[in-house]
Amino acid sequence: MFDISNISIEKISESKITQTDFDNLTFGRVFSDHMFVADYKDGEWTSPRIVPYQKLAISPANATLHYAQSIFEGLKAYKDQNGNALIFRPEANWARMNESAKRMCMPEIPEEIFMHGLEELIKLDKNWIPNQPGYSLYIRPFMFATDEYVGIRPSDTYKFIIFTCPVSKYYAKPVRVKVETKFTRAFAGGTGYAKAAGNYGAALYPARQAQNMGYDQLIWTDGLSHSKIEESGTMNVMFIINDTLITAPTDTGTILKGITRDSVLTLARDKGLKVEERSLTVEELYQALENGTLKEAFGTGTAATIANIELINLRDKDYTLPTPTDSYFSKQVYKTLDQIKTGQIPDKFDWIKTI
Ligand code: COI
Repeated sequence: MFDISNISIEKISESKITQTDFDNLTFGRVFSDHMFVADYKDGEWTSPRIVPYQKLAISPANATLHYAQSIFEGLKAYKDQNGNALIFRPEANWARMNESAKRMCMPEIPEEIFMHGLEELIKLDKNWIPNQPGYSLYIRPFMFATDEYVGIRPSDTYKFIIFTCPVSKYYAKPVRVKVETKFTRAFAGGTGYAKAAGNYGAALYPARQAQNMGYDQLIWTDGLSHSKIEESGTMNVMFIINDTLITAPTDTGTILKGITRDSVLTLARDKGLKVEERSLTVEELYQALENGTLKEAFGTGTAATIANIELINLRDKDYTLPTPTDSYFSKQVYKTLDQIKTGQIPDKFDWIKTI
């Protein structure tokens, strides 16, 4: 076992930061100077290190490329008024990553490797955290199999890497979604709750069909009956019908346990809003759209933050939702979350790790 407090750090010879246009960031295309790497072999994690962000050499027989033993996370860092880096709920991401690892037959990552690697990386690349309101440093931890072997079995070796990207909003404007009742994202007993790369790959084709029709994303329904609303391709989804916030429960094993989802539900309950974590049926959503009782619909996710839904296609009909005003819950909760993440109001739920 290594000493995690003594990881090796190789700094980049010349930072790329001066060549970066922070006013024109697109999500996921700009990468900060360094990355954290650790290798798993002979039953343990070894060689934790920070190195310049760089390409990896991969064997054509790399197990991940063939059988998708690959999982990832997404979290964000912000700056407070004093220039401290604030990371939002990293322990929750570490815990979820290990749930995904277990499901994908991959080794768990010890907390000290995840946390210490993350902290050292953010310390080193703190200047990459954008200052503009609504912008942040997106952090992408991921793990993948590295065995050079074409037979089917869990890999014996893995790489865990964390890199970061300064980002603006994932969705620049409110989204248009289509309720999907033909294709399936997840079944009970499958990998739907895991943040497994394959879940995203399998969703691309149905999402592309909807995008070709002018929608941004799908809202998935359950695989068995297509009668219950589940989640969207890039975020969990929430609806306010009359005065109640409704979102799909996570105990079905088919829904990603979103950390933004959990944060929004916590804040909603804290504000006294009625919350129901239950399956909303497609029929209920249809009725609410037809009779005007659907007050708000929005997605929640690390990348998406709170993404208002402006249009829902259901049963071949487009329903346009009212434009949210400042009195809408989605606007208020976005603001509260942003104030917590940037240290402007007290962190009463203990969500922030200050670096
Ligand atoms: C995230 O929100 O962090 C995700 O992983 C979703 C992906 C669309 C970027």
